[in-house]
Amino acid sequence: MTEDEQKQAAAEKSVSYIEDGMVVGLGTGSCAAKMVDLVGARVKDGLKMTAVPTSEATAQQAQSLGIEVVGFDRVSSLDLTIDGTDEVDPQRRLIKGGGGAHLREKIVASLSDRMIVIAEAKKKVTQLGAFKLPVEVIRFAAPALLSRLEGLGCEAHLRSGSDNELFVTDEGNYVIDCDFKVIANPEQLALDLSTLPGVVEHGLFIGYADVVLIGTDAGVEILGS
Ligand code: A5P
Repeated sequence: MTEDEQKQAAAEKSVSYIEDGMVVGLGTGSCAAKMVDLVGARVKDGLKMTAVPTSEATAQQAQSLGIEVVGFDRVSSLDLTIDGTDEVDPQRRLIKGGGGAHLREKIVASLSDRMIVIAEAKKKVTQLGAFKLPVEVIRFAAPALLSRLEGLGCEAHLRSGSDNELFVTDEGNYVIDCDFKVIANPEQLALDLSTLPGVVEHGLFIGYADVVLIGTDAGVEILGS
């Protein structure tokens, strides 16, 4: 199976969790985009649901497929969120934010009764940290935060966009990617990051993922319930 087929298999399994009448959070990234296409197909077939997208890109995709998109002016909680990940460990702790959408993704996940994570096989790791941890920061604080973050034991770099300008999130902030190689204590690091003024949100998702669906050559592996 190619990585693309693994993502497709995980995405296909995930949409079977959606039931009529649900409010569903739609994630961001290449795996999530496959899931959104499949949700669009189910809506065309008559599924009644509303969606809260986790990025402008996902909002546009969902709307183009005829999925009803709402914001937190219309709903205050969600039944389910389906999203991709950059890494997942055996405790279903995640690193997210490779696409820079982890701030909205975490807000949406935090307001959801259940979070389902979808990914290809290579995202499953024994320890988090090989993927550079994305940290969304206030622009004003970014230069000073580089050294504060390095003080936590990583190499920190401001993320550039495709145009060589600095990458700017949907909320107008910068992202610093932190290369820890190995994150020995994700809970402690999450706490340390959350207490740094100027940090808006980090990409460690601890205690969010209820179910992880991983596309593998042997089928879709299910972690959690
Ligand atoms: C977006 O900011 C991320 O959190 C994505 O969910 C994550 O990067 C996974 O994306 P891919 O499915 O494209 O690898």
